[in-house]
Amino acid sequence: MTEIKLHKAAGIDTAEITTAGVIVGFSKNDDAVKLASSLTSPEFVTECENALKTLRASDTTASVTTLTVPSQRDLLVFAVGLGTDPDLDDLRQIAGAGVRAGAGLDGVTVALPHSTNAELEAIAEGALLGAYDFTRYRKDADQPVKMINIHSTLSDVESIIERSSIIAQNVNAVRDLVNTPANDLNTESFAQYALTEAQAAGCSVHVYDLAQLYKENLAGLIAVGKGSANEPKLVRIEWNPGNAHGFTALVGKGIMFDTGGYSLKPSTAITEMKTDMGGAATILHAVITAARLELPTKVVGWMCLAENMISGTATRPDDVITYRNGISVEINNTDAEGRLVLADGLIMATDEQPDAVIDVATLTGAQMVALGERYTGIMGTDATREEVLAAAQNAGELAWGMPLPEHLKSSLKSDIADMKNTGSRYGGMLTAGLFLQRFVADTPWAHIDIAGPSFNREGAYGYTPKGATGTMMRTLVNYLEEKALEN
Ligand code: BES
Ligand code: MN
Ligand code: ZN
Repeated sequence: MTEIKLHKAAGIDTAEITTAGVIVGFSKNDDAVKLASSLTSPEFVTECENALKTLRASDTTASVTTLTVPSQRDLLVFAVGLGTDPDLDDLRQIAGAGVRAGAGLDGVTVALPHSTNAELEAIAEGALLGAYDFTRYRKDADQPVKMINIHSTLSDVESIIERSSIIAQNVNAVRDLVNTPANDLNTESFAQYALTEAQAAGCSVHVYDLAQLYKENLAGLIAVGKGSANEPKLVRIEWNPGNAHGFTALVGKGIMFDTGGYSLKPSTAITEMKTDMGGAATILHAVITAARLELPTKVVGWMCLAENMISGTATRPDDVITYRNGISVEINNTDAEGRLVLADGLIMATDEQPDAVIDVATLTGAQMVALGERYTGIMGTDATREEVLAAAQNAGELAWGMPLPEHLKSSLKSDIADMKNTGSRYGGMLTAGLFLQRFVADTPWAHIDIAGPSFNREGAYGYTPKGATGTMMRTLVNYLEEKALEN
């Protein structure tokens, strides 16, 4: 587990900076450079401004220029462009990009300008998110910083740092899980991890093993997991404080590896399928974050864990399964396995009559075709979908509402069962959503497809590293915080 710590900076000016790097902001007006920082030493400010002028540095939001100043030769200054009028998410991106530039140093001090607690929180959060890198299997020099000092003159620094740390550490933990390959993270070790971490945060946990899956007739998990030596599992975790307002259920797709099964993926599409448990990782850490923040709202998380493999015991195309609610499904494509396991989670979750159920899944390649790699697709019943979209907006995470069209339902019709598991190729994200809709009955519901945005295949930017992004964890926490405030 990547361990990076946020501290309150002791110093009030450059003389007291104890790290080898400092993050400051700047903007340009015509040719005039203006440093913007919580540090005020006139000498330091002038030196930075002069250097930035000479370098003709760009002040585009979150672009980083590295410089040194004559008065402090051992100090690396990472000057980050502020663009014009940075909002909270810009500040998160700016802090993240600045801290990532400090990789290789032991510690950095973040001295970005801010005047409100919300701005400071965005900066602290972005700094810790931007510092993340997945280093479990490599030993090169550019290791992420271990210590981040947050420089501020506001009075609530400690509590803001505490809160930002909880949130960003949990996003980073999602990233670790998603980046970990399936030979080191299987259904058993994921369930064990969930048990340990959730209990440590004060949640109660129940793990359904294979015998219990049969007993409860959790047909989707059994069918998808049948081909793997690693048995499928369903993990239920609950955060239920005494003073709870509202009850939200979260369901996550936890496919430890997705070969496609007998509807085998081509070799170019099979790589990256270690990430197919991103939904389960996201909801696990959203519940843990709610517990760590002691949010006064009840949350139950359901992680549907299985490995989609090929063997003599694997599910075949054409097989028919019957869910515990009576719905029968003809599996015409074993690669549409996510919806099969989520159906079990949705049935179990809605049985407990939550106010709303939200599922998160790396569900369809069609999500990326429709929305690209950065926008998450959100479907569901109108009010809950809009609430999740609003939460994403507040969290600064990119998301877009998508329809569940009535006219596409017929494409899921089967000749021999109540439905097939795949329908029309066009609108594949939407037909996947329509399949799930059958399993939530009347419960208010949102379906979050993160196939593209959960993994950054290009270079790092802002607070987003290459590889796993941990996106939507903060959106869920934001949603739960809203629920905690409702009566
Ligand atoms: N795990 C994949 C979706 C996916 C694709 C996630 C690319 C991340 C990146 C999912 O199980 C899948 O295979 N979906 C199929 C559905 C199809 C068979 C209807 C797909 O998108 O091709
Ligand atoms: Mn698949
Ligand atoms: Zn999958």
